[in-house]
Amino acid sequence: MHHQWLLLAACFWVIFMFMVASKFITLTFKDPDGYSAKQEFLFLTTVPEAGKLPEEKQFPEELQQVTGQMLPGSRPDPPLVYLERLELMRNVCRDEALKNLSHAAVSKFVLDRIFVCDKHKILFCQTPKVGNTQWKKVLIVLNGAFPSIEEIPEHVVHDHEKNGLPRLSSYSRVGIQKRLNTYFKFFIVRDPFERLISAFKDKFVHNPRFEPWYRHDIAPSIIRKYRRNHTETRGIQFEDFVRYLGDPHHRWLDLQFGEHIIHWVTYVELCAPCEIKYSVIGHHETLEEDAPYILRAAGIDRLVSYPTIPPGITVYNKTKVEHYFLGISKRDIRRLYARFEGDFKLFGYQKPDFLLN
Ligand SMILES: *[C@@H]1O[C@H](CO)[C@@H](O)[C@H](O)[C@H]1NC(C)=O
Ligand SMILES: *[C@@H]1O[C@H](CO)[C@@H](O)[C@H](O)[C@H]1NC(C)=O
Ligand SMILES: *[C@@H]1O[C@H](CO)[C@@H](O)[C@H](O)[C@H]1NC(C)=O
Repeated sequence: MHHQWLLLAACFWVIFMFMVASKFITLTFKDPDGYSAKQEFLFLTTVPEAGKLPEEKQFPEELQQVTGQMLPGSRPDPPLVYLERLELMRNVCRDEALKNLSHAAVSKFVLDRIFVCDKHKILFCQTPKVGNTQWKKVLIVLNGAFPSIEEIPEHVVHDHEKNGLPRLSSYSRVGIQKRLNTYFKFFIVRDPFERLISAFKDKFVHNPRFEPWYRHDIAPSIIRKYRRNHTETRGIQFEDFVRYLGDPHHRWLDLQFGEHIIHWVTYVELCAPCEIKYSVIGHHETLEEDAPYILRAAGIDRLVSYPTIPPGITVYNKTKVEHYFLGISKRDIRRLYARFEGDFKLFGYQKPDFLLN
């Protein structure tokens, strides 16, 4: 008698437990979509904090794509920085007030600036004074003209007859369009004023590549038109250069100087960033992180590496900028800023108020 009751109770217990368990099973597994959606939501909400960790230099293996798509549970997301750069750029491109400073036709001049690696479907827009020689070497190796970066003779890097690095302008109209639409596209920028200082030093002061036309033809033309004090007989000064660049009518001299202006015209004029949908914009100031990221995003990080960056050279140096602009009138600096405002805004560089006020 006592045993029968116990047996009955045990049966009820088993049935009850089974019902609870089946309820639990349907709750957790019947709706896998709901489950993953929740995970994704959690993932999205945690990303902004993760993105604030610029000191993380080693990107996890799984982050090979620029799309920002990741599996739940993967590591923090360094590419957020790059997505934010693209979003800022798109927003500035839409800003009507900046239209003249942010837009440029995709002209032959722009197509001449873009180098092609067909084998790995990469386009690289050249922006001088931001380590472009190194990127060209990377692409030359990828294209197969030389087996390694160390083996490329220095004079061949810029010799486009011999380096096996075609310009986008050398393709047919259809070929250009196809590559623009489907290839991985990138370029590198740096603070616009620091870039101008670097160009001035490199072309007019040191001139390490022995390009005499900068000092013998271009500098005298700038001095003739823009020098304020005509009793001053020294060679070209940074002030002369600033006055030339800030002149709204600079174009007639630009035409005279030809291709050499690539060292100081805006990034907008070089690469047409509002017309061409670039995949990544690298910053010289964070090149130590950006270079490996670009190689990963382009899917070539196992084939080449970016040459070693000498320590300290990528850091923005405010003291240097102040030093170069010392004694130049506020009016001339404001005009210079007005010309380069598009570059400052598109790429997120702060307006240099310490020079303007
Ligand atoms: C932009 O350029 C056009 C033609 O060059 C000019 O007519 C217009 O006034 C400019 N707009 C601004 C906002 O500067
Ligand atoms: C013009 O340049 C000369 C030569 O360097 C200098 O002596 C003179 O003070 C300068 N004048 C002005 C107004 O800066
Ligand atoms: C910044 O530039 C100044 C002047 O050119 C130079 O003396 C200084 O060493 C530079 N600082 C750094 C950190 O490179």
